[in-house]
Amino acid sequence: MKLIETQITGTGSYVPRRILTNADLENMVDTSDEWIRARTGIKERRIADKNEAASDLAYKASIKAMEAAKVTSEELDMIIVATITPDMIFPATACILQEKLGARKIVGFDLEAACSGFLYALSIGSQFIATGMYNTILIVAAETLSRITDWKDRNTCVLFADGAGAAILRPSHGSSRIISSYLGADGSGADLVKVPAGGSRLPASIETVKNRQHYMKMKGNELFKKAVKMMAQTIEISLDKGNLTTNDINLFIPHQANIRIIKAVTKRVGLSMDKTWINLDRYGNLSAASIAVALDEAIRKKRIKRGDKILFTTFGGGITCGSILLEW
Ligand code: UT7
Repeated sequence: MKLIETQITGTGSYVPRRILTNADLENMVDTSDEWIRARTGIKERRIADKNEAASDLAYKASIKAMEAAKVTSEELDMIIVATITPDMIFPATACILQEKLGARKIVGFDLEAACSGFLYALSIGSQFIATGMYNTILIVAAETLSRITDWKDRNTCVLFADGAGAAILRPSHGSSRIISSYLGADGSGADLVKVPAGGSRLPASIETVKNRQHYMKMKGNELFKKAVKMMAQTIEISLDKGNLTTNDINLFIPHQANIRIIKAVTKRVGLSMDKTWINLDRYGNLSAASIAVALDEAIRKKRIKRGDKILFTTFGGGITCGSILLEW
């Protein structure tokens, strides 16, 4: 069977209006603007309104992506929402989004791969294009991390925030395509970043709420070291698979967890920071949505042109990781 190449035909993103600065955080926990900037690179982040859930952010990003791709909601064949902060445990945020968009009764599901969610969705979506099963797929990464952030924990509350990014996948009619894709997971690191309660292991109770177990817990330092190593490895694998080197890359879009992680990775693999898209200074860590928002920004700011080789690399809870190389 001849496989069909996938093209991203449009992107969109949305970040909430409310800005939370490092100075604001100084009034909430024992931290400083200087520490946050120096240790993470983050200056400010966006926080969703009380009435904004993941599907609301997803909806706004999706509308923009469909407009950019000149696709109507009736044309969609599948919706994948990558998120660790769904509207509810179930039903899937993708089903809620389908209804909001007025799409047909098409397949929709949520994908939980933490910060790697957008790249997992891109890779999975492209398999349905490859076989000819579907023609138009909406992939969305939408996070409301402020809802699982412990605003009393300075180890995490300075890092995470809210936002969404979306893309439309369609069969490619030119040279635009996914050159190579590598996804991985290492469950031995499952304990490094998690929300302990609210699932079947530790259902919600007065105790779990009192113990603040519905908030994100992170062993930041251990994750940091693993992130640098795993991101560098996944880059090398995807470049090898695509028969390319770092010199061929026009733009590197990494997951935006920490500027020090990104700098260490670029140094290790020989990529230049000039060719690296950064938005964590403005948005912090958006988990699955970081790369999706960054891609949309880069396109809208005309930093990406036809024929460019784009490298995406991610790392996150699970531990999950991935690297996708594509020709725009
Ligand atoms: O999205 C994927 C998942 N997340 C990540 O990949 C995050 C990866 N990790 C990181 O980005 C970094 O580890 C952090 C930014 C979380 C922490 O930076 P670090 O350089 O690894 O700091 P550390 O955890 O080793 O802590 C150094 C010190 C500690 O104080 P002591 O024990 O040395 O006295 C912390 O208590 O910094 C302290 N600290 C803070 N100080 C001021 C931790 N958070 C803060 C804070 N403000 N917000």
